[in-house]
Amino acid sequence: MVLLGIDIGGSGIKGALVNSETGEFVSERVRIDTPAGALPADVADVVAQLVKELNYQGPVGCTMPAVVKNGVTQTAANIAKEWIGTDAAKLFSQKTGLNVFVMNDADAAGIAEITLGAGKGKLGTVIMITLGTGIGSAVFYNGVLLPNFELGHIEIDGRVAEKWASAAVRKERDLDWDEWGKRLNIYLNYVQKFTSPDLIIISGGVSKKYEKFFPYLKVNTEIVPAQMFNDAGIVGAAIAAQQMLQQTTPDPTPTS
Ligand code: BGC
Repeated sequence: MVLLGIDIGGSGIKGALVNSETGEFVSERVRIDTPAGALPADVADVVAQLVKELNYQGPVGCTMPAVVKNGVTQTAANIAKEWIGTDAAKLFSQKTGLNVFVMNDADAAGIAEITLGAGKGKLGTVIMITLGTGIGSAVFYNGVLLPNFELGHIEIDGRVAEKWASAAVRKERDLDWDEWGKRLNIYLNYVQKFTSPDLIIISGGVSKKYEKFFPYLKVNTEIVPAQMFNDAGIVGAAIAAQQMLQQTTPDPTPTS
């Protein structure tokens, strides 16, 4: 099935039509700058613009960098506070006239990795940690997502992990790979201690340079880089939307 996947980030809103079986794009990838302030109504306008540019009609999967329950955004660690309590699914559906499913960005990227990438076929507890402006996380048990795990907000010596060990912090503080790698190692050991995973997947743009910091990671769990990089959010949003659609659409087959 072909669906539109949209990934809403702090600097850009990206979308493409995705074949949900293969994860391949079947359209160009469209990127529009996130409007200044990223207020709900302005972001919704961009989502509608993206739908129009791709000339799309059909269900849409969309990510938000926040906890999302039943389409409602619950937190706003790195986005405008106006999102807290906003029914993002309803807002985007009204603006586009389409059925829009909304989920956490790390959960969506994790769904792409567990379905088609580094976590494919892996059983047990698989944790994906996404290193970007913040730290996102996705937790799977035997391939099933436990949504909205916020492992980026673990406290380490009184500091919120994502304010101390994210990829953005490395850049802002101009940390060397070894300084940052050691911080990440401390953080991942906390994750390990709390969750006892069977596999940790590291994603986010910085994971392309995994050879620079993986040597500093001494965790008693297998750690691998993600395989889908920047497009994982778009692909995962489309796959998740298809799954949600199946759950909400009654089976047309008569039972008797
Ligand atoms: C948010 C998460 C999000 C992550 C990555 C964190 O600040 O709390 O919900 O997944 O950033 O965008």
